[in-house]
Amino acid sequence: MTTKPAGTIGTWDPQQYLRYAAYRARPAEDLMSRLALDVPGAIYDLGCGPGNLTRLLQQKWPDRRIIAVDSSPDMLAEARKTYGESGIEWRAGDIAQWKADAPAAMVFTNAALHWLGDHDTLIPHLMRQVAPGGVLAVQMPDTARSGYTRCIVDVKASPRWKERLAGVALHMDPHPAAFYYDLLSPLAEPVDIWQTEYRHVLSGEHPVTAWIRSTGLVPILSALNESEQAAFIADYNAAAAAAYPRQADGHVLFDMHRIFLLAKRK
Ligand SMILES: C[S@@+](CC[C@H](N)C(=O)[O-])C[C@H]1O[C@@H](n2cnc3c(N)ncnc32)[C@H](O)[C@@H]1O
Repeated sequence: MTTKPAGTIGTWDPQQYLRYAAYRARPAEDLMSRLALDVPGAIYDLGCGPGNLTRLLQQKWPDRRIIAVDSSPDMLAEARKTYGESGIEWRAGDIAQWKADAPAAMVFTNAALHWLGDHDTLIPHLMRQVAPGGVLAVQMPDTARSGYTRCIVDVKASPRWKERLAGVALHMDPHPAAFYYDLLSPLAEPVDIWQTEYRHVLSGEHPVTAWIRSTGLVPILSALNESEQAAFIADYNAAAAAAYPRQADGHVLFDMHRIFLLAKRK
């Protein structure tokens, strides 16, 4: 993990993030399996990260213009390095400010919107960027229900860290499904919402920390200096080891709860 200044999202570490690429791609693949493109127009991938899912979208729809947006220079650099020849357009930008160049055939966003607030305005705004008959496809981790989040909250609130991390906000928990349905149904039909609980089989030393240090721990680690980061990680390792006992064969069953929104613009 880097030691870039507190408060930047520049602490995203593409290599660490890609360590579990196959498992991280699974919900996106589950979402993609439900997608159909019925109208002309471009596909946008918002919060594209290292670009591996954008590439899957392109493989599924090779004739479409594909535009990928992310606010992290490190993630975009990795995407350009790996898929620079693909024809995908990589753009730096903040999802909160983003608008489609023209009504989109699809707005796809996987594991990104939980980093943004104001979903009551953001979600309808994203839906309005889609052409009639096009789709908004969203997947977010349902963070509050996962054991790893409880570990973050507990360690952050422990006497050693309580004061030091008082001003650090974690990424938000998605709202309940009913909240998203009421936002989307005036603009879209059908609205398809589902929630899934994955159990990823992880191995190695401190596998839960290895998973979340490039995601859920980013706000905390980016607020700490290098020696504090190491101390926090040690405390987190201990909390995660207690919360995730090893299976008989030594693996850890890592719980990832996810919510999916798939809405077709009226
Ligand atoms: C967990 S990664 C997901 C990457 C990719 N979509 C995937 O599923 O593998 C979250 C990504 O969202 C990006 N991100 C977070 N907040 C953002 C914002 N406000 N605007 C644009 N990108 C953002 C981060 O830089 C990061 O690359």
